[in-house]
Amino acid sequence: MAVQGVRAVDIRRAGWLALMASVLTLGLIAYGSWVRVSGSGLGCPDWPLCEGALVPEIEGATAIEFGHRVYAGVTMLLVAASAAFAFRARTHDRLTSRLLVWALVAILVQAVLGGITVLTELHSMVRLAHLTFSLLTLALLTGGAARALKVRFSPPPDVRRWRALVIAAAFVVLAGGTIVGTGHSAGCPGLPLCDARSGTEAAWVHLVHRVAATALLLALIWTAWQARRVGGWAFWVSVIAALLAAAQFTVGVSAVWLRLPQELRIMHLGLAAAVWWAVVAQFSFALLGRTR
Ligand code: HEM
Repeated sequence: MAVQGVRAVDIRRAGWLALMASVLTLGLIAYGSWVRVSGSGLGCPDWPLCEGALVPEIEGATAIEFGHRVYAGVTMLLVAASAAFAFRARTHDRLTSRLLVWALVAILVQAVLGGITVLTELHSMVRLAHLTFSLLTLALLTGGAARALKVRFSPPPDVRRWRALVIAAAFVVLAGGTIVGTGHSAGCPGLPLCDARSGTEAAWVHLVHRVAATALLLALIWTAWQARRVGGWAFWVSVIAALLAAAQFTVGVSAVWLRLPQELRIMHLGLAAAVWWAVVAQFSFALLGRTR
């Protein structure tokens, strides 16, 4: 019984650490966007050292890229601590332990991908993989934290609907990442659709991104509208997801309209991560409400 009590405390600690790490991961994703749009991706041209030193001279692009690495290091330590507590209590809660150990694996892969991005001088597909793993890390941390801290909705909202929304959000985000990865960010200055200024490939990736983003926004608004009948937290979290998506949509349109200013590009990735976070959180709460 005493051992069970210790294990339960370990799981709660793992949950709080995972929650803190997921907040840091959100900021880290937005910071990553700042590194990219400020052209600081090669501020540290080598990896894992920076300019051949453990701590480089802190100035300009080097400061921005080195700051990103330090921030990532702190986040990684939190994820590692969370995974360690969860692993120690694996006999008490196997699923939480699995989710958080996989989050650690995902963030380690993410660190290596960050290094490969530098060593391949920012190859576009490696960039896309870097984005994919950051979203995977965020999802595993969120699921692990929700389970460890026993956050669940009762009665649960429709799990299948939220699973579909997770898939739709992943699609929109990866379509956005493809725009950036293929170098077509400025390839569709027309609104609402691309016009004669766009090449065929640029027009296609932008069209897919815009249509999918519109469908996701409408689905989230519809879901929030329907959730008013359930009320409580399930309703409020779906309202937050819909509001974040509406803000993201506005930022996306404004970014195109204003010819991609740096601030809006950073905000666009930060909000994308926040929409993803809200959708994954809602799915986790719904799933946990059903399984216990
Ligand atoms: C829920 C809605 C949306 C989500 C979740 C979303 C997500 C994303 C993501 C993740 C990226 C990649 C950013 C990066 O790697 O730095 C991106 C890029 C982009 N998106 Fe969206 N997007 C949404 C709506 C829109 C809309 C409505 C537009 C315009 C009509 C738009 C225009 C763009 C553009 C131009 C880029 C390239 C930005 C850059 O190079 O920094 N997005 N989007």
